[in-house]
Amino acid sequence: MSGGSRLRPYHPAPMSTSPPTTRLYGRRVMLRPLVVADFPPWREVRLRNEPWLLPWEPARVPSAPDATRDRDAFAVRCHARDRERQAGTGYGFGIFVDNALAGEINLNAVQRGPLQNAHVGYWIDEARAGRGYMPESVVVLARYSFDELRLHRLQVNIIPRNRNSRRVMEKLGLREEGVAVRYLEINGVWEDHVRYGFTAEEWNARRVELSAAWLDPA
Ligand SMILES: CC(C)(COP(=O)(O)OP(=O)(O)OC[C@H]1O[C@@H](n2cnc3c(N)ncnc32)[C@H](O)[C@@H]1OP(=O)(O)O)[C@@H](O)C(=O)NCCC(=O)NCCS
Repeated sequence: MSGGSRLRPYHPAPMSTSPPTTRLYGRRVMLRPLVVADFPPWREVRLRNEPWLLPWEPARVPSAPDATRDRDAFAVRCHARDRERQAGTGYGFGIFVDNALAGEINLNAVQRGPLQNAHVGYWIDEARAGRGYMPESVVVLARYSFDELRLHRLQVNIIPRNRNSRRVMEKLGLREEGVAVRYLEINGVWEDHVRYGFTAEEWNARRVELSAAWLDPA
């Protein structure tokens, strides 16, 4: 049988492996959970980037408070992420470049048991686009996911016409697994998504190469 692996047995989720103080480092980026005090820069970056980001995101429920404009809604968002982290179901990180908020990268919908999977979502400030900060952040998150959280699989789902995001996958050499039809409701439309997969076996085989390219000091 092809594709099977007995690399290691999987264990229950390590609880609270990522306290709010967790900081993860790449060559240039630092990832840490967002806190309520991040609201002013969050608001500034998100407002300035709405035309750049909203076409690729789920539409906001009109009746729900807007975390971009409302500090209390942002606080609720931060606390929800804290609870996810404590429960081991999600790990959200702000991306910081030169100590400034530059974007976000999140591990969503962590599933344990025989799947050991999480979904990766991300965005970057348009003013910082094109400098490889996202591929670097994906490698930082992959190292954390496989080496610390002991996940077996990461998935990234991308609308086929999102060339910039697919280019990130291409740069990292992540494996394309096919198209999931009408997979996610993005900006009000059920959109097809190209699915990219990355397993612990692939990480183990490529960690030296990917670390040298994206993480180790230049
Ligand atoms: C997708 C995204 C996260 C990529 O982040 P990044 O840090 O710019 O990634 P890279 O630097 O590797 O750039 C990827 C490609 O984007 C394109 N790009 C670069 N700078 C750009 C800019 N200023 N404007 C538009 N596109 C640009 C280039 O084609 C680049 O590939 P190249 O380096 O081979 O030229 C970013 O474009 C983004 O946040 N887009 C809007 C939200 C989004 O699409 N999120 C992902 C949903 S799946």
